[in-house]
Amino acid sequence: MNRRIMVAGNWKMYKTIDQAVALAKAVAAGPARQGLDVLLCPNFVCLEAVVRAVAGSHVQVGGQNLHWQDEGAFTAEISGPMLRSVGASHVIIGHSERRQFFGETEKTVRMRLAAALRHGLKPIVCVGETQAERESGQTDDVLASQLAGGLAGLSAAEMVKVTLAYEPVWAIGTGLTASDEQAQQVHAFIRAWLAARFDNQVANSCGILYGGSVKPANAAGLLRQKDIDGALVGGASLDADSFLGIIAAV
Ligand code: G3P
Repeated sequence: MNRRIMVAGNWKMYKTIDQAVALAKAVAAGPARQGLDVLLCPNFVCLEAVVRAVAGSHVQVGGQNLHWQDEGAFTAEISGPMLRSVGASHVIIGHSERRQFFGETEKTVRMRLAAALRHGLKPIVCVGETQAERESGQTDDVLASQLAGGLAGLSAAEMVKVTLAYEPVWAIGTGLTASDEQAQQVHAFIRAWLAARFDNQVANSCGILYGGSVKPANAAGLLRQKDIDGALVGGASLDADSFLGIIAAV
């Protein structure tokens, strides 16, 4: 393997602490591979317990979101300093479910990204189109808008710290996976967008993950694609055998 690959699990709103610790330990008992980053993103309640459960292993732990301010009267929110205080190294930003259900916009994605970088968290910024946008031929325009808004004003030095995740909304949790060719086509578009906005070196330094019904059965084909640098896994990350099966496909 001559490029870094990341397999990340987005556990969303699943797992109590006991369930999370058991799953984390099972993943941590899996193989550590040269060039492979394994990341678990549990719910906030389980974060510290998962950090402790994987301590000393190859597995890293991240949050699923963060507020753009460090503290304040923002009921139910979590900040960058809080994530760092429990040992998180990464954070997911702009997931489509945040956009769909919680009013996430390009502006708030950008603000959250600034907070993540400010606090030394490795951000995973999500982009993706809906079924309607794809069927009406708007995929490239939608992605360009999400990238331009979410990454507005970022320097090259900041951009190389960012991982992107392409998650076609129509493939999330549906069992519908983008074909290898569909995913590669969009990842190549994103890579080209990065090269035009920054330069080829920055574009090639940024990991671009694919997310959307990744399973052990389809992972190898996706991860073989030139511009797919890993997977952001939802449902299949909630079961150790499935998640380890995706890792084995790398
Ligand atoms: O963030 C990853 C997630 O949205 C993908 O979900 O269940 O389709 O793997 P799933």
